[in-house]
Amino acid sequence: MTSILFVCLGNICRSPMAEFVMKDLVKKAGLEKEFHIESAATSTEEIGNPVYPPACRKLAEHGIGCAGKTARQLRREDYGRYDWLIGMDRGNLREMGRICGGDPDGKLRLLLDFTDRPGQVADPWYTGDFDATWRDVEEGCRGLLEAITGGKTDRK
Ligand code: 4NP
Repeated sequence: MTSILFVCLGNICRSPMAEFVMKDLVKKAGLEKEFHIESAATSTEEIGNPVYPPACRKLAEHGIGCAGKTARQLRREDYGRYDWLIGMDRGNLREMGRICGGDPDGKLRLLLDFTDRPGQVADPWYTGDFDATWRDVEEGCRGLLEAITGGKTDRK
């Protein structure tokens, strides 16, 4: 069993998109029973709120649902509960380290580190560009799944 927690600032756009894209990829690979996948926020801004409607619509365009998901905040104990905690941007990663009290096991990563174009997932909050976010999230999740199933996670 591999457990993954995707993390962004609000947990209503980027990290839930990653959560449901990854669940879809895992399901299509017939590996549903091998994975536990969730998402969380670094901030308290959107706690309890559903996935932002434009993010939900982008997922739906690709046949992926996100019903029932509500934002929750990352907690220090999540560090011990998940194998991988995957941030969307460098600000997320910094906050994740602060909330978790460090990263002794090398579990904190950026999603696009699992692609051949490392960097930050496009943030749609101010741009409204959910296509760019979709492309980043989809490519990152494919790379992450490949890294885990191929054993190329290279944990420190
Ligand atoms: P997310 O997007 O971090 O991808 O869920 C945002 C959601 C809410 C805010 C910023 C980004 N906000 O400032 O409330």
